Amino acid sequence: MKKEHWQDIYATKGMQEVSWFQKVPEISLDLIQKVAPNKDASIIDVGGGDGFLVDNLLELGYTNITVLDISENAINRAKQRLGNIDEKVKWVISDITNFLPEKKYDVWHDRAVFHFLTEQKDIAKYKTLVNKSINDYFVLATFSDEGPNKCSGLEICKYSELDLKKQFDNSFKVIESFKKNHSTPFNTTQNFTFSVFQKQY
Ligand SMILES: C[S@@+](CC[C@H](N)C(=O)[O-])C[C@H]1O[C@@H](n2cnc3c(N)ncnc32)[C@H](O)[C@@H]1O
Repeated sequence: MKKEHWQDIYATKGMQEVSWFQKVPEISLDLIQKVAPNKDASIIDVGGGDGFLVDNLLELGYTNITVLDISENAINRAKQRLGNIDEKVKWVISDITNFLPEKKYDVWHDRAVFHFLTEQKDIAKYKTLVNKSINDYFVLATFSDEGPNKCSGLEICKYSELDLKKQFDNSFKVIESFKKNHSTPFNTTQNFTFSVFQKQY
């Protein structure tokens, strides 16, 4: 059912008709460059949809990028936009809670996906997955405690900086955390919590 919801969104809404549209996701790009100056770092964008993070990372010279999304329509849109360059990217169509990674990633990026997991069993699966699939850094953005209650018609969970720390402090240390407003294409704002975690061994 989740998959159908997202397939339908990407079949019926244009790129700029979704609240998360951002041609240059500056905050994510800054954070990723800070933790992964090395251009061959393996980076996964979880729930990347048809977003522009991948375009920007390719432009910066990153060579080892994976984009995962539950929606095949979203992935196809991104692939079509990127044309031949898309061969440089590994595309994965999967619900993140069922994802079986073939390797560990140096950087795991998730903007606005974890907060859609509202059932404890799914949150637990995600936590297990990040604990075992990340070499170094986890860059996470969710709606903050001051953010909206829903997104794309779906219930979400809101997280303060402390809430995120508590969710992941079994295996990760917070190295940076802050709140930031995102301006949607509809001239509204959504408050996000961004946290950068470092894996603890
Ligand atoms: C709000 S959008 C954010 C897209 C992108 N991360 C960005 O910030 O522009 C949420 C994305 O997560 C995907 N998604 C939602 N639930 C998911 C799940 N359980 N597993 C994988 N992807 C999911 C959706 O298809 C959609 O592309």
